[in-house]
Amino acid sequence: MTELHRRDQVLPGGPQAPVPARDEGSAFEPAPATSPGPTRAAAPAPGGGGASSPRLVDHDVADLALAEAGVERIEWAEREMPVLAKIRERFAAERPLAGLRIGACLHVTTETANLVRTLAAGGAEVALAASNPLSTQDDVAAALVARYGVPTFARRGEDRATYYAHLSAVADRHPQITMDDGCDLVSLLHSERPGQLSEVLAGTEETTTGVIRLRAMAADGALRYPVIAVNEALTKHLFDNRYGTGQSTVDGILRATNILLAGRNVVVAGYGWVGRGIAARMAGMGAHVVVVEVDPVRALEALMDGYRVMTHAEAAGWGELFVTATGNRNVFRREHFERMRDGAILANAGHFDVELDLAALRSMAEGHVRRVRPGVEGFEIGGKELFLVAEGRLVNLGAAEGHPAAVMDMSFANQALSVEYLARHAAELGPQVYTVPEAIDQEVARLKLLALGIELEPLTEEQRAYLADWRQGT
Ligand code: NAI
Repeated sequence: MTELHRRDQVLPGGPQAPVPARDEGSAFEPAPATSPGPTRAAAPAPGGGGASSPRLVDHDVADLALAEAGVERIEWAEREMPVLAKIRERFAAERPLAGLRIGACLHVTTETANLVRTLAAGGAEVALAASNPLSTQDDVAAALVARYGVPTFARRGEDRATYYAHLSAVADRHPQITMDDGCDLVSLLHSERPGQLSEVLAGTEETTTGVIRLRAMAADGALRYPVIAVNEALTKHLFDNRYGTGQSTVDGILRATNILLAGRNVVVAGYGWVGRGIAARMAGMGAHVVVVEVDPVRALEALMDGYRVMTHAEAAGWGELFVTATGNRNVFRREHFERMRDGAILANAGHFDVELDLAALRSMAEGHVRRVRPGVEGFEIGGKELFLVAEGRLVNLGAAEGHPAAVMDMSFANQALSVEYLARHAAELGPQVYTVPEAIDQEVARLKLLALGIELEPLTEEQRAYLADWRQGT
């Protein structure tokens, strides 16, 4: 693990943080590899402009000079996040999180910045690390430090050691609430810092893979504090996983490759919330879509939604573009790569970079790997070339900007309201995984409709009575 150091630094107008050398081997243009180490201490007032403040909070980000660009993008996203804005307004008045230390491990994007601002408005002290080495938007990380005074530890393209050093930097701040996207912070606290667990009141988890890991911990009796599975809110997975990932996965693949989807054979592995969204958007752009599933109900659903269903082995020779969204590992592996046709493109939308067997791909290419264009590598295998997008990491964040803010508005409204709920009720909860209280889910949907100017049809008294009366038949 890389050790993070601190050092004084003057901003703005003074010397900037050193910009790390580019990782020449990366397929990505803006990808500094490892942390050069130095960070610094003391903060501008959270949420403040920082113009007259000479000192900054602890951080490890790529380039503080990007802060202004980050602020512009954060404000652009804010326009699409009216539910979170409403919550922020109330939090600022009521301060329900006053003094609460929150350690967050989330994708460092414009939407996350708006969530962090909301938590800070509620009185929380938030520290943030990236939840994926390739998802950080460096301008946002810089803005969080220089403009909003949030200790932030994230560099796009950071190596594994730096990724974990950044998580440790957040853990060093002794969080009372953890906010995870993939369960890495919870896992680090439980495995490496058990002494700190008694300080943690509770946590939240953003994604399916993280919830699966947490449930496994709870089943093992290993989980030591309560965690709310934000992913399980209806106003989260029905929209974020489906429409957010559906659109942004297409966005990432197109930005990286600029291929035409119309008429292309696309294989979607996994027909969960994410897979459904990807399949629908691919089909909407004219692709022929085949779904691969291991679950009989989901396979049937895919069939009746109008897709063909095949095994991986069958689909391998048919597909031209393969997208994984299973939360599982080695979904496409050696035997499938062998059958794939020349020019096939591989991308992953699942949380971890384990869905495509990258070790097999590398070993089959025997060193014949080239950077084809930003975000795309070519693997020469037995007279054909297979193309990998975004290093097999989640393609919507690795090759595009992640979900549109309008959908993250609901996911992060659930996060903010769940943290408020935990601040009040954590002591009443045991070390289990909890669903988001239904009242929060309903409130998020209600606020979103309100912001969209859409009115709900109210039930009449007669209808209400009818629904509650089991005696009335035909
Ligand atoms: P889900 O549990 O609803 O769906 C996963 C599906 O994959 C299930 O239907 C399962 O039967 C199927 N599956 C499992 N192993 C398979 C295999 N070997 N071959 C074919 N199908 C298989 O999960 P959800 O919500 O769709 O999430 C999928 C992944 O995407 C997770 O890792 C999640 O964390 C991640 N995710 C990524 C986002 C992003 O921004 N890229 C956003 C939201 C979720």
